[in-house]
Amino acid sequence: MATAAETAVMRRAITLAARGLGATSPNPVVGCVILDASGEVAGEGFHQRAGGPHAEIHALREAGERARGGTAFVTLEPCNHTGRTGPCAQALTEAGVRRVVYAVSDPNPQATGGADTLRAAGVQVEQGLLADEAEAGNTAWLTSVRLGRPYVLWKYAATLDGRIAAADATSRWITSPEARADVHRLRAEADAVVVGSGTARADDPQLGVRGVEGVTQPLRVVVDTDATAVRPGARVLDGTAPTLVAVADGAEAGHLPAESVLRLPRAADGQGLDIGALLAALHGRGIRSVLLEGGPVLAGAFVAAGAVDTVVGYLAPVLLGAGPPALADAGISTISQALRLDVTETVRIGPDLRITAVPVPARKGN
Ligand SMILES: NC(=O)c1ccc[n+]([C@@H]2O[C@H](COP(=O)([O-])OP(=O)(O)OC[C@H]3O[C@@H](n4cnc5c(N)ncnc54)[C@H](OP(=O)(O)O)[C@@H]3O)[C@@H](O)[C@H]2O)c1
Repeated sequence: MATAAETAVMRRAITLAARGLGATSPNPVVGCVILDASGEVAGEGFHQRAGGPHAEIHALREAGERARGGTAFVTLEPCNHTGRTGPCAQALTEAGVRRVVYAVSDPNPQATGGADTLRAAGVQVEQGLLADEAEAGNTAWLTSVRLGRPYVLWKYAATLDGRIAAADATSRWITSPEARADVHRLRAEADAVVVGSGTARADDPQLGVRGVEGVTQPLRVVVDTDATAVRPGARVLDGTAPTLVAVADGAEAGHLPAESVLRLPRAADGQGLDIGALLAALHGRGIRSVLLEGGPVLAGAFVAAGAVDTVVGYLAPVLLGAGPPALADAGISTISQALRLDVTETVRIGPDLRITAVPVPARKGN
């Protein structure tokens, strides 16, 4: 049974893990705190980027000899495999750590088994401390392992009456500077930012992260079936971050840099590109989390494909009365098909409201 102090240590490890969001894919975010034999903090670490040392290694380095006889708190089961770095279970054993407390088991078949290796080496192992919090911190990666596609967070900014642009298509700016800064944090935590050709045409967005220090810029993706929306000189091609323009197999894309063209099959219903193929292609490139920034037509296609895992709506205390709604056709024509969500958080951001919600699994008789 963990003490309150141990729970606080695991919470610290979860906070550390979050610092890696947006930079570790295809790996998870992981945090680790090592206490020495007397219970003092001896070392801390988090997984900073794929290919770099794992959280446990950073913490062990900081702890040095003080790890001997100590306890390691890790947000994810220590890995058991030699990838680009050595197995952490072995490193913990060799450092003389006496006890390992981890929050969430590793579902990755290649990496799992760390707990067994530790036990076999005589280390005391406990699992489950703050498992829900640690899982929430790793939602994107865990979802991608479970579903075999990137986790998708759809974000929109709307007026209180649900409009994302005015009737004349002007949409800058519906929400406050505070809310827009918060969107840059979401971008920083994502591996890729995706918009449709309609948004590219209307706004010429740059899609990079601004105002967040030390960030790994996300891959920018425009879904532009016929390669007509992203033209040479578009801000998304400014070279400050990698960009992919997803186009149909036969589209004429000679005006785009060859390395930026991602060819995909058209959707079976003829409306744009196949969303499943897009997500599979991104997953194949190591993308584990996608921030879908709209617009409403593309978001509707993602909802119809069952490919929205979290919705974040920024609602501004503004009324427009006309203009496009946040979500266009999502293949839902009657109330029994409505996609029901659970609100997981509401936060006031400046004058606006940020609502986070996740789909609830369909209930019988709904
Ligand atoms: N306030 C906000 O949060 C926010 C966010 C984003 C955009 N906006 C506003 O939204 C407006 C643009 O919205 P929009 O709905 O017209 O554009 P959109 O959703 O960005 O792009 C829609 C286009 O994406 C392409 N597409 C490719 N594959 C698709 C698929 N499987 N299903 C559906 N579409 C697919 C289609 O055009 P092709 O097939 O021809 O490529 C489609 O017309 C602008 O006014 C913009 O300012 C507001």
